[in-house]
Amino acid sequence: MTHQRLYINIDHIATVRQARRGDEPVPAQAVAICERAGADGITAHLREDRRHIQDSDIDAIASAVTTVFNLEMACTAEMLALAERLRPHQVTLVPERREEVTTEGGLALASATRGLSDAIVRLRRTGIRTSLFIDPDRDAVTRSRELGADAVELHTGRYAHAPGAGHALDALRDAATLGASLGLAVHAGHGLTTGNVGPVASIPEIEELNIGHHVISRAIFVGLDTAVRELRAAMDAARRAA
Ligand code: PXP
Repeated sequence: MTHQRLYINIDHIATVRQARRGDEPVPAQAVAICERAGADGITAHLREDRRHIQDSDIDAIASAVTTVFNLEMACTAEMLALAERLRPHQVTLVPERREEVTTEGGLALASATRGLSDAIVRLRRTGIRTSLFIDPDRDAVTRSRELGADAVELHTGRYAHAPGAGHALDALRDAATLGASLGLAVHAGHGLTTGNVGPVASIPEIEELNIGHHVISRAIFVGLDTAVRELRAAMDAARRAA
């Protein structure tokens, strides 16, 4: 099976710093460690409320990355202007609600699609690949294709919260197969850990995983290098066995 890319989401390092509104730990310092440990890319989400990653982090991360940078952001005028200035390899457009603890669901593609398709055109013109964070749902995959996205990232939250529930995994498999058959690159992420990543990593159509909270949590005890290597090993083992 082909190599599956692992992008590490380093927002959670900024969450620790913001708890004190201090100056440590510095997210950009994680970039080289993650890359040395086998990350294929670095992901960060600049939220409109700046609750974790700050604008200065985004600049520092973009400069530090030697693999690729996946900027997660809401589809707003402010964020689009930032992406055009920074020119990351990829933008993942996500829904954002201030009251949520994390990104709790995929984009609502039935509404506000004009804004999304305009954003995709603008990003493509700048040379940026666009991925849409969606629920593993056939209609959402088809709409993403119609909107002109290069990729979809399937929200794995429902699976991660009940990994024994076969239907959540079936929905991911079904959406991944459909996405690939429509010519979309298929990514996945949210709530994945070394313990539950196997069945998702072994879906052949899924090219890329974005994983954050678990890696940073695990890093507290074993260090970031080991935490990334453990995750990489769990993904590789699952893909070899599939
Ligand atoms: N992908 C997207 C689009 C996300 O918004 C998040 C959460 O920031 C993740 C992946 C990573 O999720 P987690 O931190 O649960 O691994």
